Amino acid sequence: MARRRMIYEGKAKILYEGPEPGTIVQYFKDDATAFNAEKKAVIEGKGVLNNMLSEHFMVGVAGIGIPNHFIKRLNMREQLIKAVEVIPLEVVVRNVAAGSMSKRLGIEEGTPLSRPIVEFYYKDDSLSDPLVTEDQIVAFQWASPQDLDEMVAMALRVNDFMSGLMFGVGIKLIDFKIEIGRLFDGDFQRLILADEISPDSCRLWDIETGRKLDKDIFRHDLGDLADAYTEVATRLGVMPKKSGGPSGPTLVK
Ligand code: TMP
Repeated sequence: MARRRMIYEGKAKILYEGPEPGTIVQYFKDDATAFNAEKKAVIEGKGVLNNMLSEHFMVGVAGIGIPNHFIKRLNMREQLIKAVEVIPLEVVVRNVAAGSMSKRLGIEEGTPLSRPIVEFYYKDDSLSDPLVTEDQIVAFQWASPQDLDEMVAMALRVNDFMSGLMFGVGIKLIDFKIEIGRLFDGDFQRLILADEISPDSCRLWDIETGRKLDKDIFRHDLGDLADAYTEVATRLGVMPKKSGGPSGPTLVK
């Protein structure tokens, strides 16, 4: 049997040629990186958790009519997805000030925003993914004005869905990043959600305690990342509930 062909290796995922034209196998690695890969680690189990969580979120958004690349999960680390041409933009939606926006504008982390803010970052590691304006995006032809309208609408719908889902399990969705791709069908193309939605690409804070349940734990050495992602997965019912610790021998009467 021929070995499948690797198409692309990113920081947290590998893409392999899929079984049929137009399909790709997306493999979730345990690798974690931050600050444009200045900081690196392998976190056992992260890939499995992100694979399951991204499936859960993609199936959820599809359920409210947001088209996306997810076809089916193949195993613990892989999912079958539709091949798209990814638009070279990271679309970030923010509900609460945090991260780079807090730093750039001097707004204290945790300050609620009066309305969700959508931002675009140009995907280029050599430039550290700079913030770009809609005029720049159109002028450099990364996307058309019509694409941009669609991307903003899609991002805000994902925000509504994800905020509600998270609120239901006691988690505040602070911000998140999505990527959008062009799906070609003959002479036609449409924009669909691509990449992943996972705690790697969101900020998630416990509503009661403020505990961070996302990749900021790794970025800022705040504790056990896999533990936090497992907590998110357990609350959402994606992973079975933890038992109350190792159970001792049971007395047989
Ligand atoms: P930021 O505050 O660092 O700009 O991040 C905004 C959101 O985007 C946050 O939820 C984390 C996510 N994100 C990624 O998914 N990939 C990245 O490379 C960066 C910088 C942020």
